[in-house]
Amino acid sequence: MEYGSGTLMGQLSQAVKEAGRMFNDREKAAQVKQKGATDFVTQVDVSVQNYLRERLEKLAPDIQFMGEEKDNSDLDFTRPMWVLDPVDGTTNLVHGFCHSAVSLALADQGEVLYGLVYNPDADELYTAERGGGAFLNGVPIRVSGVKLLADALVDVGTNPSDRERADRSFRWMRAVFDRCHDVRRMGAASLCLCYVAAGRLDGYLEGSLKPWDYAAGMLIVREAGGFVSTTERGEPSLAEGSGIVCANGQIGLELLEALEA
Ligand code: IPD
Ligand code: CA
Ligand code: CA
Repeated sequence: MEYGSGTLMGQLSQAVKEAGRMFNDREKAAQVKQKGATDFVTQVDVSVQNYLRERLEKLAPDIQFMGEEKDNSDLDFTRPMWVLDPVDGTTNLVHGFCHSAVSLALADQGEVLYGLVYNPDADELYTAERGGGAFLNGVPIRVSGVKLLADALVDVGTNPSDRERADRSFRWMRAVFDRCHDVRRMGAASLCLCYVAAGRLDGYLEGSLKPWDYAAGMLIVREAGGFVSTTERGEPSLAEGSGIVCANGQIGLELLEALEA
């Protein structure tokens, strides 16, 4: 893949990086509204989404737009669409825990063709184009070579906005913890997927995610040689959310078995 400004990937990379600058606006990050008791949206989320929506509309007026902070009920999943999480890891952003990302995918017929995840704090841009491999700041990445869950580092998400499922989340966390080196909980689903793609984590799982949490990261993991499925062993969909299990190519099934034990 060419990593230049003339390609679509180049243009999208520039757009998400420019949007990511807004993460530094602490005043906007402090303007918080509650969508639920533990589900937040800040003025940064809204500004990033508005900025990218406008910019992508100019770039390709016919492509539909799915974004976390808008109504997505009128989308036609047989046609091309952008899938945006303007700030993945809003709770981290609110607390100044520097680990959040812009996550943008381009999909057609429900298949992700381009995926970009940008962490402004680390200035790390993960990209993948279907069939073209996965990259971190333009350098190819691969999943880890760990062969057994017993030797793995695994992030387990807690579904903060779905407290009714807390018992399930912590049962899964305990089941994985009992079988691996250690667990992590970093608080940004898209970055967990990218950390698996880059071999920094060997696996990641979380229940009840939304398509914008995993659309881009799912392609990045697969293009880096990794495994992605729903927690029910199915194919993740963009039309509805699901739990996600992802891992390097070797421990995915072991992780699924741990959840089912
Ligand atoms: C959340 C983050 C978090 C995960 C939640 C997601 P948001 O996304 O990815 O890590 O645990 O399930 O909803 O709300 O910050 O975009
Ligand atoms: Ca999210
Ligand atoms: Ca979000």
